[in-house]
Amino acid sequence: MKIIRSDNYDVCIGEKSLVHFNFSDYSTLAILVDENTKKHCLPLLLVQLPALSNSLIIEIQSGEENKNLSSCSLIWEELSKHNFDRNSLLINLGGGVIGDMGGFAASTYKRGIDFIQIPTTLLSMADASVGGKLGIDFNGLKNQVGLFKNPKSVLIYPEFLETLGENQLNSGLAEIVKHALIADANLWNKLKETSFSDVDWEDVIARSVQLKNKIILDDPFEKTTRKQLNFGHTFGHAIESYYLEKGTPILHGEAVFLGVILESELSNITRQEKSEIKNFILSNFALPHCPSKSEIAKYLTNDKKNQSKKINFSLLSEIGNCSIDNLFSIDEL
Ligand SMILES: NC(=O)c1ccc[n+]([C@@H]2O[C@H](COP(=O)([O-])OP(=O)(O)OC[C@H]3O[C@@H](n4cnc5c(N)ncnc54)[C@H](O)[C@@H]3O)[C@@H](O)[C@H]2O)c1
Repeated sequence: MKIIRSDNYDVCIGEKSLVHFNFSDYSTLAILVDENTKKHCLPLLLVQLPALSNSLIIEIQSGEENKNLSSCSLIWEELSKHNFDRNSLLINLGGGVIGDMGGFAASTYKRGIDFIQIPTTLLSMADASVGGKLGIDFNGLKNQVGLFKNPKSVLIYPEFLETLGENQLNSGLAEIVKHALIADANLWNKLKETSFSDVDWEDVIARSVQLKNKIILDDPFEKTTRKQLNFGHTFGHAIESYYLEKGTPILHGEAVFLGVILESELSNITRQEKSEIKNFILSNFALPHCPSKSEIAKYLTNDKKNQSKKINFSLLSEIGNCSIDNLFSIDEL
């Protein structure tokens, strides 16, 4: 098992990761699932940790469209109804939606109870479960309401990936590719040569978590260098919000891949590097149609990161390095 020490918690990766947490410290336990993680992941978790069998199971509906206030209300209602006190623990068993929203619901219930992340998608293992960014979508805008708070632990058990569809695996690869492009040219060169049908996920996840962890430890609250992690996400979030509002949501990673292509174009790297990134993504992953600038303009102008009405991008300064606070007006894009 690999253990990566983050701010004040461990990220444990591997076969033995699930037993690396002391659940007996808590008076009551709840496990947050959606219908898919209830079916595919909960049984596996309970085989590894039979002591969790008496936990309260809180089920919400899967999907980004349910990362909202009404799902949060349901979580708070269940915790209240079952008299969860401040010495309770919420176990978030799922992808980034469960992790972001469960963490947010736990951190606000009775001014905050502990939670742990047990990510079950590649995206949440390699990225979302680490770093303490929690929240929900609001009024059609991604992650509009939320906070920073660290989990007590992150337990990454790669076997959960066995039931994950190929499109979801590809979606997770978007964040891994992003980490490589902003922080590790060697990983980028390795990914370019990789056959994705035959990957050692434990290694790739561990490297991705290490890269992210280093960035967040330097700047936990995104005042400066953590903004590098937003590479691909300014266009990415606008595209994701566009499809969400249209009623045909796309995967977060699909939006990020489109964002990585568009933001590489804005970056100060060579023409050859730009085409290499674009060709790698388009030849390996089937992506939705990229909306036009006018279709996503309102989301870009509403982006949380904007400064003085300008849109704030994190862009590649070279492969493996990223510069922050590159400001563009909508007309300059
Ligand atoms: N907090 C952060 O730092 C951070 C970083 C990146 C992304 N995110 C957020 O993460 C979210 C996307 O996360 P995601 O891609 O994991 O999506 P998701 O949570 O919606 O999960 C994708 C789908 O896979 C299903 N699923 C999960 N695990 C499964 C398994 N093992 N087997 C079968 N099905 C399974 C889920 O039920 C869901 O239908 C977005 O809301 C995004 O904003 C957060």
